[in-house]
Amino acid sequence: MSKLTIAIDGPAGSGKSSVARRVAAMLGYLYLDSGAMYRALALKALRCNVSLENESRLEALANETHIELKPPKPEQEAAGAKNCVFLDGADVTHEIRMGEVAQAASRLATIAKVREVLVAEQQRAGAGGGVVMEGRDIGTVVFPKAELKIFLDASPEVRAERRWKEHQEKGERPTPGDVFNEVIERDKRDRERKVSPLVRAADAVLVDNTAMGIEETARLIVMFAEERERELARAAGKMP
Ligand code: CDP
Ligand code: CDP
Repeated sequence: MSKLTIAIDGPAGSGKSSVARRVAAMLGYLYLDSGAMYRALALKALRCNVSLENESRLEALANETHIELKPPKPEQEAAGAKNCVFLDGADVTHEIRMGEVAQAASRLATIAKVREVLVAEQQRAGAGGGVVMEGRDIGTVVFPKAELKIFLDASPEVRAERRWKEHQEKGERPTPGDVFNEVIERDKRDRERKVSPLVRAADAVLVDNTAMGIEETARLIVMFAEERERELARAAGKMP
């Protein structure tokens, strides 16, 4: 059967990376984390002291930067890495997960010209199909013709708690209140920006995993994918 393009969008902490990676593994698809690209560019801007207000400089930075996503090696996977992220050839998989980088990423993600560069890169990376890509605008902008679109959500309290637990596991000690405010602030910016805001595509299936684990959520999405594969095969006359 021909392989699908699966788009998973949703707010911070909704489980996109964990679930998308599991879905890709179950289907034998490529997993791509588009947010990691925004984070990598934000890390470079912070390191180069480029102001997040300076749109033309950030556009130039996007054009001159090489970001690559690679599947993790087994030992990196065991340490929780989902995609390994290379910024101009250097491994920045861990650095891009800092809270400061997340906030900077969501600020530069409001700039249309920066998005154009990264969206073109994402479209190239997923062009062959057989891919699960997750982010904020995958079903609306990057792959509007994706055969399966999921809008993954969970309550703000649960999403913030998940992020807080991740900080604890890394030995970081932000207060639960600070993490909650960070998640809410970033969501608001992502939902309210003019270009490619976070919004559920009209044809996306809403999956609320507030009370569901990663495995359960991934299995549900795989069921949708298998159903979609059958529908497409039937439409192509390959199945009764
Ligand atoms: O990519 P996104 O920000 O949407 O979320 P994530 O990084 O996949 O998940 C955030 C945290 O929540 C991770 O530590 C996951 O293990 C956890 N999680 C969970 O406990 N239950 C779920 N159903 C989904 C994610
Ligand atoms: O993992 P989490 O959901 O917290 O964030 P992420 O997916 O790593 O994305 C970081 C930031 O990049 C988001 O807050 C968005 O502002 C931006 N982003 C975007 O605008 N479009 C995407 N397709 C992916 C991420």
